[in-house]
Amino acid sequence: MKKKKWGFKKVDGGLEISNGGEGNKKWGIMLGLPYIGGSVGRYIRKRKKDLLKASASDPDGPLLRLENLVKIYDTGAIKVLGLKKINLTIGRGEFVAIMGHSGSGKSTLMNILGCLDRPTLGHYYLDGHDTASMTPDELSDIRNRKIGFVFQSFNLISRTSALKNVELPMTYARVPKAKRQQRAKELLERVGLGERLGHMPNEMSGGQRQRVAIARALANQPPLILADEPTGNLDTASSIEIMELFRELHQEGATVVVVTHEEDIAAFADRIIRFGDGQLLSDTINDHHQEEGETC
Ligand SMILES: Nc1ncnc2c1ncn2[C@@H]1O[C@H](COP(=O)(O)OP(=O)(O)O)[C@@H](O)[C@H]1O
Ligand SMILES: [Mg+2]
Repeated sequence: MKKKKWGFKKVDGGLEISNGGEGNKKWGIMLGLPYIGGSVGRYIRKRKKDLLKASASDPDGPLLRLENLVKIYDTGAIKVLGLKKINLTIGRGEFVAIMGHSGSGKSTLMNILGCLDRPTLGHYYLDGHDTASMTPDELSDIRNRKIGFVFQSFNLISRTSALKNVELPMTYARVPKAKRQQRAKELLERVGLGERLGHMPNEMSGGQRQRVAIARALANQPPLILADEPTGNLDTASSIEIMELFRELHQEGATVVVVTHEEDIAAFADRIIRFGDGQLLSDTINDHHQEEGETC
Protein backbone atom coordinates (compact mmCIF):
# COMPACT_ATOMS: atom_id res chain seq x y z
CA MET A 1 0.00 0.00 0.00
CA LYS A 2 1.27 3.47 -0.85
CA LYS A 3 2.32 5.41 2.30
CA LYS A 4 0.71 8.84 2.64
CA LYS A 5 3.06 11.83 2.94
CA TRP A 6 3.27 14.69 5.39
CA GLY A 7 2.34 17.98 3.83
CA PHE A 8 0.64 21.33 3.89
CA LYS A 9 -2.89 21.82 2.73
CA LYS A 10 -4.65 25.13 2.02
CA VAL A 11 -7.82 25.35 4.10
CA ASP A 12 -10.28 28.08 5.02
CA GLY A 13 -8.46 30.46 7.34
CA GLY A 14 -4.88 29.39 6.63
CA LEU A 15 -2.57 26.46 6.17
CA GLU A 16 -3.09 23.13 7.79
CA ILE A 17 -0.14 20.83 8.51
CA SER A 18 -1.34 17.37 7.85
CA ASN A 19 0.08 13.92 8.36
CA GLY A 20 -1.65 12.90 5.20
CA GLY A 21 -5.17 12.81 6.52
CA GLU A 22 -5.31 9.26 7.76
CA GLY A 23 -8.86 9.34 9.03
CA ASN A 24 -8.92 9.60 12.80
CA LYS A 25 -5.23 10.54 13.15
CA LYS A 26 -5.42 13.80 11.21
CA TRP A 27 -3.91 16.75 13.07
CA GLY A 28 -2.40 20.14 12.35
CA ILE A 29 -2.64 23.85 13.00
CA MET A 30 -5.85 25.60 12.07
CA LEU A 31 -6.32 29.38 12.46
CA GLY A 32 -3.13 29.38 14.55
CA LEU A 33 -4.45 26.82 17.04
CA PRO A 34 -3.67 23.11 17.43
CA TYR A 35 -6.29 21.06 15.64
CA ILE A 36 -7.11 17.38 15.73
CA GLY A 37 -9.48 16.11 13.10
CA GLY A 38 -11.34 12.86 12.45
CA SER A 39 -13.09 10.79 15.06
CA VAL A 40 -10.32 11.37 17.66
CA GLY A 41 -10.82 15.15 17.39
CA ARG A 42 -14.59 14.77 17.60
CA TYR A 43 -14.21 12.62 20.73
CA ILE A 44 -11.90 15.17 22.43
CA ARG A 45 -14.21 18.09 21.61
CA LYS A 46 -17.27 16.24 22.90
CA ARG A 47 -15.43 15.18 26.08
CA LYS A 48 -14.34 18.78 26.72
CA LYS A 49 -17.93 19.97 26.32
CA ASP A 50 -19.23 17.23 28.65
CA LEU A 51 -16.60 18.11 31.26
CA LEU A 52 -17.61 21.77 31.08
CA LYS A 53 -21.25 20.80 31.61
CA ALA A 54 -20.38 18.34 34.38
CA SER A 55 -18.32 20.91 36.26
CA ALA A 56 -21.54 22.91 36.73
CA SER A 57 -21.29 24.95 39.80
CA ASP A 58 -22.83 24.78 43.19
CA PRO A 59 -26.49 25.62 42.47
CA ASP A 60 -26.62 27.62 45.70
CA GLY A 61 -23.60 29.73 44.67
CA PRO A 62 -24.00 33.14 42.98
CA LEU A 63 -24.67 33.22 39.24
CA LEU A 64 -22.04 35.93 38.67
CA ARG A 65 -18.95 36.76 40.66
CA LEU A 66 -16.30 39.30 39.72
CA GLU A 67 -13.04 39.20 41.62
CA ASN A 68 -10.54 42.06 41.34
CA LEU A 69 -11.59 42.46 37.74
CA VAL A 70 -9.56 44.88 35.61
CA LYS A 71 -10.05 45.73 31.93
CA ILE A 72 -7.38 47.64 30.06
CA TYR A 73 -7.91 48.62 26.42
CA ASP A 74 -4.60 48.63 24.64
CA THR A 75 -5.03 51.02 21.73
CA GLY A 76 -1.35 51.04 20.80
CA ALA A 77 -0.09 54.45 21.84
CA ILE A 78 -2.26 54.66 24.95
CA LYS A 79 -3.79 52.21 27.34
CA VAL A 80 -7.31 52.99 28.59
CA LEU A 81 -8.36 51.65 31.95
CA GLY A 82 -11.95 50.54 31.31
CA LEU A 83 -12.57 48.88 34.70
CA LYS A 84 -10.53 49.22 37.88
CA LYS A 85 -10.54 46.27 40.28
CA ILE A 86 -14.23 45.47 40.42
CA ASN A 87 -15.54 43.07 43.07
CA LEU A 88 -19.20 42.23 42.59
CA THR A 89 -21.57 39.33 43.18
CA ILE A 90 -25.01 38.92 41.60
CA GLY A 91 -27.21 36.11 42.86
CA ARG A 92 -29.62 33.88 40.98
CA GLY A 93 -32.95 35.53 40.26
CA GLU A 94 -31.82 39.10 41.00
CA PHE A 95 -33.06 42.09 38.99
CA VAL A 96 -30.22 44.64 38.86
CA ALA A 97 -29.84 48.02 37.18
CA ILE A 98 -26.39 49.39 36.40
CA MET A 99 -26.14 53.16 36.16
CA GLY A 100 -23.37 55.64 35.43
CA HIS A 101 -22.48 58.51 33.13
CA SER A 102 -21.18 57.95 29.61
CA GLY A 103 -17.69 56.40 29.60
CA SER A 104 -17.98 55.09 33.17
CA GLY A 105 -17.42 51.47 32.09
CA LYS A 106 -20.98 50.09 31.90
CA SER A 107 -20.65 48.54 28.44
CA THR A 108 -17.16 47.27 29.24
CA LEU A 109 -18.65 45.48 32.24
CA MET A 110 -21.61 44.12 30.25
CA ASN A 111 -19.36 42.81 27.48
CA ILE A 112 -17.33 40.88 30.04
CA LEU A 113 -20.45 39.63 31.85
CA GLY A 114 -21.81 38.55 28.46
CA CYS A 115 -18.59 36.69 27.55
CA LEU A 116 -18.20 38.97 24.53
CA ASP A 117 -14.87 40.12 25.98
CA ARG A 118 -12.43 38.87 28.59
CA PRO A 119 -10.96 40.64 31.62
CA THR A 120 -7.33 41.77 31.42
CA LEU A 121 -6.75 40.83 35.07
CA GLY A 122 -8.83 39.19 37.76
CA HIS A 123 -11.64 36.70 37.42
CA TYR A 124 -15.21 36.46 36.24
CA TYR A 125 -17.01 33.35 37.43
CA LEU A 126 -20.20 32.61 35.52
CA ASP A 127 -22.23 29.90 37.21
CA GLY A 128 -19.01 28.75 38.86
CA HIS A 129 -16.94 28.63 35.63
CA ASP A 130 -13.88 30.88 35.50
CA THR A 131 -14.18 32.60 32.13
CA ALA A 132 -10.63 34.05 32.30
CA SER A 133 -9.13 30.68 31.35
CA MET A 134 -11.63 29.82 28.60
CA THR A 135 -10.75 29.59 24.93
CA PRO A 136 -12.82 31.64 22.44
CA ASP A 137 -14.74 28.43 21.57
CA GLU A 138 -15.56 27.70 25.19
CA LEU A 139 -16.62 31.33 25.73
CA SER A 140 -19.01 31.23 22.79
CA ASP A 141 -20.39 27.90 23.97
CA ILE A 142 -21.08 29.13 27.51
CA ARG A 143 -22.50 32.38 26.09
CA ASN A 144 -24.94 30.50 23.88
CA ARG A 145 -26.13 28.31 26.74
CA LYS A 146 -26.25 30.74 29.66
CA ILE A 147 -26.70 34.28 28.36
CA GLY A 148 -29.30 36.22 26.43
CA PHE A 149 -27.94 39.61 25.36
CA VAL A 150 -30.13 42.59 24.42
CA PHE A 151 -28.49 45.62 22.78
CA GLN A 152 -29.54 49.27 22.53
CA SER A 153 -29.61 49.08 18.73
CA PHE A 154 -31.53 45.75 18.66
CA ASN A 155 -28.92 44.06 16.39
CA LEU A 156 -31.50 42.12 14.41
CA ILE A 157 -30.64 40.69 11.03
CA SER A 158 -32.23 42.87 8.37
CA ARG A 159 -34.33 41.40 5.55
CA THR A 160 -34.93 38.40 7.82
CA SER A 161 -38.27 37.72 9.46
CA ALA A 162 -38.88 38.05 13.19
CA LEU A 163 -39.33 34.27 13.32
CA LYS A 164 -35.98 33.58 11.64
CA ASN A 165 -34.20 36.14 13.85
CA VAL A 166 -35.48 34.36 16.95
CA GLU A 167 -34.59 30.95 15.51
CA LEU A 168 -30.95 31.90 14.95
CA PRO A 169 -29.43 31.12 18.39
CA MET A 170 -31.24 27.77 18.29
CA THR A 171 -29.68 27.04 14.89
CA TYR A 172 -26.25 27.59 16.49
CA ALA A 173 -27.29 25.29 19.33
CA ARG A 174 -28.32 22.68 16.70
CA VAL A 175 -31.96 22.53 17.74
CA PRO A 176 -33.91 20.60 15.04
CA LYS A 177 -35.80 22.80 12.58
CA ALA A 178 -39.39 21.95 13.59
CA LYS A 179 -38.61 22.39 17.28
CA ARG A 180 -36.87 25.75 16.82
CA GLN A 181 -39.68 27.10 14.62
CA GLN A 182 -42.24 26.10 17.24
CA ARG A 183 -40.23 27.65 20.08
CA ALA A 184 -39.53 30.86 18.11
CA LYS A 185 -43.27 31.19 17.47
CA GLU A 186 -44.08 30.67 21.16
CA LEU A 187 -41.45 33.21 22.21
CA LEU A 188 -42.78 35.83 19.81
CA GLU A 189 -46.27 35.18 21.15
CA ARG A 190 -44.82 35.52 24.67
CA VAL A 191 -43.54 39.04 23.89
CA GLY A 192 -46.83 40.02 22.23
CA LEU A 193 -45.77 39.65 18.60
CA GLY A 194 -47.75 36.56 17.63
CA GLU A 195 -49.24 38.51 14.70
CA ARG A 196 -45.87 39.67 13.39
CA LEU A 197 -43.96 36.40 12.84
CA GLY A 198 -43.22 37.09 9.16
CA HIS A 199 -42.44 40.79 9.54
CA MET A 200 -38.97 42.10 8.72
CA PRO A 201 -37.22 44.40 11.24
CA ASN A 202 -37.79 47.46 9.01
CA GLU A 203 -41.54 46.75 9.08
CA MET A 204 -41.65 47.10 12.87
CA SER A 205 -41.46 49.94 15.41
CA GLY A 206 -38.48 50.32 17.75
CA GLY A 207 -40.42 48.80 20.64
CA GLN A 208 -41.47 45.82 18.51
CA ARG A 209 -37.89 45.29 17.29
CA GLN A 210 -36.65 45.28 20.86
CA ARG A 211 -39.31 42.71 21.73
CA VAL A 212 -38.04 40.49 18.89
CA ALA A 213 -34.52 40.95 20.31
CA ILE A 214 -35.76 39.90 23.76
CA ALA A 215 -37.50 36.83 22.30
CA ARG A 216 -34.20 35.98 20.55
CA ALA A 217 -32.31 36.43 23.85
CA LEU A 218 -34.67 33.89 25.45
CA ALA A 219 -34.27 31.31 22.67
CA ASN A 220 -31.93 28.92 24.48
CA GLN A 221 -33.60 29.47 27.89
CA PRO A 222 -30.60 31.24 29.41
CA PRO A 223 -30.56 31.76 33.17
CA LEU A 224 -29.01 35.23 32.64
CA ILE A 225 -30.40 38.14 30.61
CA LEU A 226 -28.12 41.12 30.03
CA ALA A 227 -29.39 44.31 28.43
CA ASP A 228 -27.13 47.28 27.61
CA GLU A 229 -29.33 50.42 27.43
CA PRO A 230 -32.26 48.46 25.95
CA THR A 231 -34.52 51.52 26.07
CA GLY A 232 -31.91 53.97 24.77
CA ASN A 233 -33.56 54.19 21.32
CA LEU A 234 -37.17 53.97 22.48
CA ASP A 235 -39.93 56.44 23.39
CA THR A 236 -41.29 56.50 26.94
CA ALA A 237 -44.30 54.23 26.33
CA SER A 238 -42.19 51.55 24.60
CA SER A 239 -39.52 51.86 27.30
CA ILE A 240 -42.09 51.07 29.98
CA GLU A 241 -43.39 48.07 28.00
CA ILE A 242 -39.86 46.71 27.62
CA MET A 243 -39.07 47.18 31.32
CA GLU A 244 -42.34 45.51 32.29
CA LEU A 245 -41.34 42.58 30.11
CA PHE A 246 -37.98 42.34 31.91
CA ARG A 247 -39.80 42.50 35.23
CA GLU A 248 -42.04 39.58 34.18
CA LEU A 249 -39.02 37.53 33.09
CA HIS A 250 -37.41 38.25 36.45
CA GLN A 251 -40.62 37.17 38.21
CA GLU A 252 -40.49 33.93 36.19
CA GLY A 253 -37.02 33.25 37.64
CA ALA A 254 -34.46 34.81 35.26
CA THR A 255 -31.54 36.87 36.51
CA VAL A 256 -31.78 40.23 34.75
CA VAL A 257 -29.07 42.92 34.55
CA VAL A 258 -30.04 46.14 32.74
CA VAL A 259 -27.77 49.11 32.01
CA THR A 260 -29.41 52.50 31.86
CA HIS A 261 -28.63 56.11 32.60
CA GLU A 262 -32.27 56.93 33.34
CA GLU A 263 -33.42 56.87 36.97
CA ASP A 264 -37.00 55.99 35.95
CA ILE A 265 -35.80 52.92 34.07
CA ALA A 266 -33.50 51.84 36.91
CA ALA A 267 -36.48 52.15 39.27
CA PHE A 268 -37.91 48.90 37.85
CA ALA A 269 -35.01 46.91 39.35
CA ASP A 270 -34.57 45.61 42.91
CA ARG A 271 -30.93 46.64 43.19
CA ILE A 272 -29.11 49.62 41.70
CA ILE A 273 -25.34 49.63 41.15
CA ARG A 274 -23.68 52.92 40.21
CA PHE A 275 -20.44 53.19 38.27
CA GLY A 276 -18.11 56.14 37.82
CA ASP A 277 -14.76 56.26 36.06
CA GLY A 278 -14.43 52.46 35.85
CA GLN A 279 -15.18 51.97 39.54
CA LEU A 280 -18.14 50.79 41.54
CA LEU A 281 -19.45 53.83 43.42
CA SER A 282 -22.52 52.44 45.19
CA ASP A 283 -24.64 49.33 45.42
CA THR A 284 -28.10 49.82 46.94
CA ILE A 285 -31.42 48.04 47.33
CA ASN A 286 -34.18 49.87 45.48
CA ASP A 287 -37.23 50.32 47.66
CA HIS A 288 -38.87 52.91 45.38
CA HIS A 289 -40.10 50.53 42.73
CA GLN A 290 -41.66 51.74 39.54
CA GLU A 291 -45.21 50.53 40.09
CA GLU A 292 -47.26 48.78 37.49
CA GLY A 293 -48.97 51.27 35.17
CA GLU A 294 -47.07 54.23 36.65
CA THR A 295 -45.72 56.60 34.00
CA CYS A 296 -42.05 57.50 33.74
N1 LIG B 1 -12.79 49.20 22.32
C1 LIG B 1 -12.29 50.17 23.08
N2 LIG B 1 -11.02 50.63 22.88
C2 LIG B 1 -10.51 51.60 23.66
N3 LIG B 1 -11.16 52.18 24.68
C3 LIG B 1 -12.40 51.77 24.94
C4 LIG B 1 -13.05 50.74 24.15
N4 LIG B 1 -14.29 50.53 24.63
C5 LIG B 1 -14.43 51.39 25.66
N5 LIG B 1 -13.31 52.13 25.84
C6 LIG B 1 -13.08 53.16 26.89
O1 LIG B 1 -13.37 52.57 28.15
C7 LIG B 1 -14.06 53.49 28.98
C8 LIG B 1 -15.42 52.90 29.36
O2 LIG B 1 -16.25 52.85 28.21
P1 LIG B 1 -17.68 52.14 28.15
O3 LIG B 1 -17.59 50.88 28.88
O4 LIG B 1 -18.13 52.09 26.74
O5 LIG B 1 -18.57 53.18 28.98
P2 LIG B 1 -20.16 53.38 29.09
O6 LIG B 1 -20.83 52.18 28.50
O7 LIG B 1 -20.41 53.54 30.56
O8 LIG B 1 -20.47 54.63 28.34
C9 LIG B 1 -14.14 54.80 28.19
O9 LIG B 1 -13.05 55.60 28.58
C10 LIG B 1 -14.02 54.33 26.76
O10 LIG B 1 -13.47 55.33 25.96
MG1 LIG C 1 -22.23 52.03 26.95
